[in-house]
Amino acid sequence: MEFVDVVKKRRSTRRFLQKEVDDSLLKEILEFVARYAPSSRNTHSTSFLVVKDRSILEKMALMRDYGSAFLSLAPAAVVVLGDELKTDLYRENCAISATLLQAAIVDRGLSSCWIHVLDRPREKDNAEAGLAEAYLRDVLKLKDDNLRIECVIALGYADYVPKPLPEFDYQSAVKWL
Ligand SMILES: Cc1cc2nc3c(=O)[nH]c(=O)nc-3n(C[C@H](O)[C@H](O)[C@H](O)COP(=O)(O)O)c2cc1C
Repeated sequence: MEFVDVVKKRRSTRRFLQKEVDDSLLKEILEFVARYAPSSRNTHSTSFLVVKDRSILEKMALMRDYGSAFLSLAPAAVVVLGDELKTDLYRENCAISATLLQAAIVDRGLSSCWIHVLDRPREKDNAEAGLAEAYLRDVLKLKDDNLRIECVIALGYADYVPKPLPEFDYQSAVKWL
């Protein structure tokens, strides 16, 4: 697919067909991203954890009380992890990898949605409920404390065409000195 088409076609998709995503396709996409995503000082601090097990996806969907429930019906998810021992810029590296991952997903005919984890509270209006990351770490049985969870990319074959986004003044986002 042409670069411009990939960029334009990437839209957050929160409802998927109940159609399995081939492991070989996922492996191809993830190895491509792992290989080509740039990272600060070439530290390669980002790694990926694939989840297809329905019972785990259902538990993951409960990580927050807003913006994550749809994960319970997604055919697959990729947890994007950053190694904070490799670089202090692990978050930036994760975000770049996750963005490239969403583009690669589109290029292969699939759709996705970013669910943010790092620093996000489990409950929108109750800071005492703790952090989504701590809950997810438990669900995924992550042992390495240095592996931080940036986000989860829910993915599958789209069940609908997302509505166009509201127009906005994108030209004012560009300034020249
Ligand atoms: C850093 C980041 C965090 C996001 N977190 C969530 C999230 O937790 N849950 C969700 O449903 N969508 C999330 N999104 C998707 C955005 O809501 C979406 O990208 C935005 O509304 C624009 O729509 P589009 O992706 O279809 O262009 C996130 C996107 C980004 C880039």
